[in-house]
Amino acid sequence: MCGIVGYIGKKEALPILINGLRRLEYRGYDSAGVAIFQNGKIKKTKAVGKIDSLSEKVKTADMVGTVGIAHTRWATHGGVTEDNAHPHSGCQDDLVICHNGIIENYRELKEKFLSGHTIKSQTDTEILAHLIEVFYEGDLLTAVRKALSEVRGTYGLVAMHAGEPNKIVAARLGSPLVIGVGENEYYIASDTSPMLAHTKNVVFLDDGEVAEITLDSMKIFNVDHKIMDKHVEKIEWNEAQAQKQGFDHFMLKEIFDQPTVVKDAIRGRFSLEDGAAHLGGLNMTDEQMHQVKRVVMLSCGTAYYAGLVGKYAFERLAGLPTEADVASEFRYRDPIIDEHTLVFAISQSGETADTIAALREAKRKGAFVRGIVNVVGSSIARETDGGTYIHAGPELAVASTKAYTNMVAVLILYALQFGRLNRVSVATGERLLRALLEIPEKMKLVLAQSEKIKAIAQKYKDYKDCIFLGRGINYPVALEGALKLKEISYIHSEAYPGGEMKHGPIALLSENFPIIAIATKNQLYEKMISNIQEAKARKAPIILIATEGDAQAKEISDDVIYVPQTMELLEPLVNTLALQLFSYHTAVLLGKDVDRPRNLAKSVTVE
Ligand code: AGP
Repeated sequence: MCGIVGYIGKKEALPILINGLRRLEYRGYDSAGVAIFQNGKIKKTKAVGKIDSLSEKVKTADMVGTVGIAHTRWATHGGVTEDNAHPHSGCQDDLVICHNGIIENYRELKEKFLSGHTIKSQTDTEILAHLIEVFYEGDLLTAVRKALSEVRGTYGLVAMHAGEPNKIVAARLGSPLVIGVGENEYYIASDTSPMLAHTKNVVFLDDGEVAEITLDSMKIFNVDHKIMDKHVEKIEWNEAQAQKQGFDHFMLKEIFDQPTVVKDAIRGRFSLEDGAAHLGGLNMTDEQMHQVKRVVMLSCGTAYYAGLVGKYAFERLAGLPTEADVASEFRYRDPIIDEHTLVFAISQSGETADTIAALREAKRKGAFVRGIVNVVGSSIARETDGGTYIHAGPELAVASTKAYTNMVAVLILYALQFGRLNRVSVATGERLLRALLEIPEKMKLVLAQSEKIKAIAQKYKDYKDCIFLGRGINYPVALEGALKLKEISYIHSEAYPGGEMKHGPIALLSENFPIIAIATKNQLYEKMISNIQEAKARKAPIILIATEGDAQAKEISDDVIYVPQTMELLEPLVNTLALQLFSYHTAVLLGKDVDRPRNLAKSVTVE
């Protein structure tokens, strides 16, 4: 995700800002920029690529001053270009802003407030800069507050205006911002890592708060414009810990990111009133959507297991025959694809060679081909004729977690969008969407059990083999759980549909071969319990993922992780987190390199 750094004090700002951006490189980015107050004006330099490119450019830009802001951009709206890089200005160059987050209603704001304005970039952020410019009447704080009152979305924002030298205004809603308090100097950043070399005394902005920072004061206002008396905290983290925001590994941070980023996956993409989903990136008319007679999900690894959930969702909601295919298999079969087929290429990186090759095969055969990817401007995003970014933010751990749940959330919205064409009523659609809106809080209930799950992992970490079981929508969850465990702990783990055990795998079971089974209260619960009884009769240790309040689960298992009840179709968004934490803690207890497991790459760009 993007990174923000700001400085106001008596030292040269440029080196502090450039070095601050380097501390944020871990967040992932594709362009960067910096702006400095200088002799009553604001000078700006931007560059595509790494910080080194920006650092080279500023050497000849004569940027001297003690107040400035800087930004690393991870593209969400608009490609990777210098125009799209931050800082952004309005029509005049006397105002600059850097922004993290998503301005959901940027199109409406442009239509309502910006007639006559010349928009130079494709970004939502530039619209916000012009909006602040519209409201600016000599006081930057007031202009920022007025502009933000018109915004729907999320922001971490810093702004400067040439009319008010030695002042930075900062604001936060849904995208973190922290202020470092030095000796007659202040630092502002997306997290503490850029400031730890200068100060460990920090103030975390809370949602809705706006700060006005000058050379000798820092005022923080709440939504009612009341000055807040904020606590200055002393950070004990080192830089590496700061980058993980206090978590021990990126994987754990990203597991805990899920309640936040799943909201980004669905934000602005549905209407409760219509009980419908509206994913504009689908780029298909209703007539074209009615042409679709079959759906194919193409992906690999974790993305394949998301595609499997998509299969269940499309069949149930849209009533469309749906296949989920491993991309590397699809392309060498003779797949039955035609102009009535809709193919989704699902990929976190958007660069997986097998998936790219498979989507090209589908295009060649005339299918509608759409991408569901995380990385903006990636190959799959460019080679498909539309699609949806999952907005999970950079996923730095090799083992995919938050991208999986965001893929699932987007697939469920797509299934609803097609379902509402004929099969799904407004009421059913609204019920599904309301259940989806409850998911972030339900995810948090699972995350709150991390220490309990760690204790369970402690009991089972030394087993050499295990089997994950699930039925229906939880079979893909079992597959994903088995993949997570094997790829970071190196324990041999497989997954089977619950009903398959008796057809062979049960021969493996003994007291040395544990079963991790998802037995939540849904239409297949009783059948799953029977499968577990069969396993128990062979003395296999049993760990259950069960629904809160299910007393029977304790009686038939050795350990239970309780998860909150949700609509069956949405269970993968909750149940998977228990398995992610189980795998994470097992691997840590075994001393494995959780973020960089052996033999694996984050993006498999070779066949
Ligand atoms: C996920 O934990 C794995 N690291 C891997 O299976 C991954 O999901 C797969 O390589 C697909 O990657 P993509 O989503 O970037 O296409």
